[in-house]
Amino acid sequence: MDFDIEQTDTLLSTTRAVRRRLDFERDVPDDLLMRCIELAEQAPTGAGVSSRRWIIVKHPETKAQLAELYRAAGGSRVIERLEDRRLAGGRQERMAESSAYLAANMEKAPALVLVTIWGVHDGSGRPGLFDSVIQAAWSFCLALRARGLGSAWTTMHLGKAKEFADLLGIPDGVTQIVLLPVAWTIGTDFTPALRRKASEIVWFDRWGNTQENPGEVSSLIAAAPGVAVEIDIAAPPERVWEFASDINISARFSDEFQGAEWVDSDGPREGASFIGRNERTDVNRVWQTTSYVVACDPPRVFAWNVNDRDRPSAQWRFELERLPGGTRLSQRLVMGPSLSATGRAMEANPDQARHILASRREQHRGNMLLNLQGIKRLAEMGV
Ligand SMILES: Cc1cc2nc3c(=O)[nH]c(=O)nc-3n(C[C@H](O)[C@H](O)[C@H](O)COP(=O)(O)O)c2cc1C
Repeated sequence: MDFDIEQTDTLLSTTRAVRRRLDFERDVPDDLLMRCIELAEQAPTGAGVSSRRWIIVKHPETKAQLAELYRAAGGSRVIERLEDRRLAGGRQERMAESSAYLAANMEKAPALVLVTIWGVHDGSGRPGLFDSVIQAAWSFCLALRARGLGSAWTTMHLGKAKEFADLLGIPDGVTQIVLLPVAWTIGTDFTPALRRKASEIVWFDRWGNTQENPGEVSSLIAAAPGVAVEIDIAAPPERVWEFASDINISARFSDEFQGAEWVDSDGPREGASFIGRNERTDVNRVWQTTSYVVACDPPRVFAWNVNDRDRPSAQWRFELERLPGGTRLSQRLVMGPSLSATGRAMEANPDQARHILASRREQHRGNMLLNLQGIKRLAEMGV
């Protein structure tokens, strides 16, 4: 059979956390929930053993008690935090408001579905427990969405898992995974969330090897255009930015880059250019490049193109992502679209081209990693 790809993709990309658009007034029939669970049970199952157990709670008093426990486990904090300080707007605030709304109204959902599994994770790192249940719970959410229902993936209650177990009679040896408030959705038009592009988070054959398209590119370097390294830093992005946006920073840590000077600016700004000095002892080469800042968005992105603003031979980029306790710093390099000395060496030695490119990428990876490790040390100093 042929799937309707457009519909399937819409289902996969718009099954969102629904909280404020849950219809609390309309009953959800049991047979509909059972059908969705039957579909969900088709998910991969370790050792073929059917260990998932689903509890559908519809009794108003039991729902009220579960909702109270959800609030005691953290939901009330979410509500209070929102009341304390109305934030400036944006996605984070909308999410906080929506979470608070659900916490305040959990008992009004026509059904609360608790997904559990027989077994207790032994911490061994071996698969076989959570990995036999989460995919089924998500299939359940997709089956709901396809029928005009919705839910939100919630785990806050797990801080009160013991109380949940007492209330619902869940035996020892069973692990609770997720609590899904289920209702018809008010309207069915949901939109895809903002997520990273696949090209930014997919590595080919080796950790960090990217296939970002650098633009129209020589077939020589099209095979391996990029490399990315990442590091988690226990310091806020504002502090990490000071180092990441310093054009001299990698001279302190990398073997190759020797230093740089701004040409027409006294600091980082979009449109500014700087001259960098480089040295490779392995091929006895010293050279200079002019780079053009193509993105400067503190404390998030600092990027520059080498040799030519529009048709660079290399594109470098720092990205800073705020984490709960700090920053994830990535440094990315995309080679091309113009050929650099590496590309010209490949042209001159076509038989060796793959090897030249691969070893140059390894060299870059090593220097970039030294650079990020150095920035991490500096940024965490005194934090
Ligand atoms: C592991 C996990 C736990 C979550 N726990 C809660 C929760 O306790 N309460 C809640 O309101 N949302 C919870 N969420 C939902 C996220 O907040 C939700 O994904 C977020 O609002 C973004 O919405 P989206 O998935 O539609 O992009 C959880 C999501 C995950 C993956």
